[in-house]
Amino acid sequence: MNLLFTHAGTFPLAYDERLLDALLRTGHAVDYQCREGWCGSCRTRLLQGTVHYPHKPLAHLNAGEILPCCCQAASPIVRLDCERDHRLGTNDLTKTSHSSDGCPR
Ligand code: FES
Repeated sequence: MNLLFTHAGTFPLAYDERLLDALLRTGHAVDYQCREGWCGSCRTRLLQGTVHYPHKPLAHLNAGEILPCCCQAASPIVRLDCERDHRLGTNDLTKTSHSSDGCPR
C-alpha cells in the first residue's frame, strides 16, 4: 500500500487513486479546475517520492512540481506540500476510530 504524507498527516492511498482524489478525500485544501492536466491549477510541490502520469499532462510544470489531478503514486511514499482545509474543522476524515465493541464509528 502506498502512503501519502502531507503537513496534515499520513494517509493510505487506494489502488490507482489519483493524488487529487486522495487529497480531496482526506480534506486537503487544493485548487483544481480541469482535472485533466491542462489548466495547471492543481500544481503542487512534490517533497518526496515519485509519481506516474497515465497520460502526459499539457500544463507547464516547474522542477519539483506535480499535477495531482492526473498522476498516481509511483513510489511507496509520496510527500506533498499540502495543508488540510481548515474550513472543514478538526475532524479527521480518514482515521477510523473504533468503539469498545470494535465497531467503526
Ligand atoms: S486541475 Fe487542471 S491541471 Fe490539474
